[in-house]
Amino acid sequence: MTYPIYVYGHTVLRQVAKEIDREYPELDKLISDMFETMYNSDGLGLAAPQIGKSMRIFVIDGEPLAEDHPEMKGFRQAFINPQVVERRGEKVPMNEGCLSLPGIREEVDRESVIRIQYYDEQWNFRDEVYNGYKARVVLHEYDHLDGILFTDKLSPLRRRLLRGKLNDLMRGKFEAEYRTVLPVNR
Ligand code: NI
Repeated sequence: MTYPIYVYGHTVLRQVAKEIDREYPELDKLISDMFETMYNSDGLGLAAPQIGKSMRIFVIDGEPLAEDHPEMKGFRQAFINPQVVERRGEKVPMNEGCLSLPGIREEVDRESVIRIQYYDEQWNFRDEVYNGYKARVVLHEYDHLDGILFTDKLSPLRRRLLRGKLNDLMRGKFEAEYRTVLPVNR
């Protein structure tokens, strides 16, 4: 099944998400539904807060980008209780979008190398170093677990210029080819 995507302005996107317990029932089902929701909305990554669940998990499938970014080939993974333990390399700007901010794309600066520890779908502990686009996508999704959106990383000027568009999002004035959930207090 697919979930609707929670849109900018919803409080769940601003919460620090909670760690997932090993006993959490039907985690497999949640993960496959997250992948399905992501594919259905043409996303590269999806974090649980974006489907209204304040839990520390995200999924990524970088295959659609493999042609331009070879490191994304076969990069399909669920990240449970992840922790970015190291960030290094020069901060580089790159164009980003987010399913929770339909229609908005901006250049965002992020570190180019990260080390991340997490559990995979089988609860195997993993400790990996990523660079390039992999690091980029992982950092974007990881931020969602701490209530951070890519627009938070823009300069005050860029943010001011976006204010109208962000207000439109909260009011439902946007187009998306997937089901969405708007903030409750409009
Ligand atoms: Ni996002």
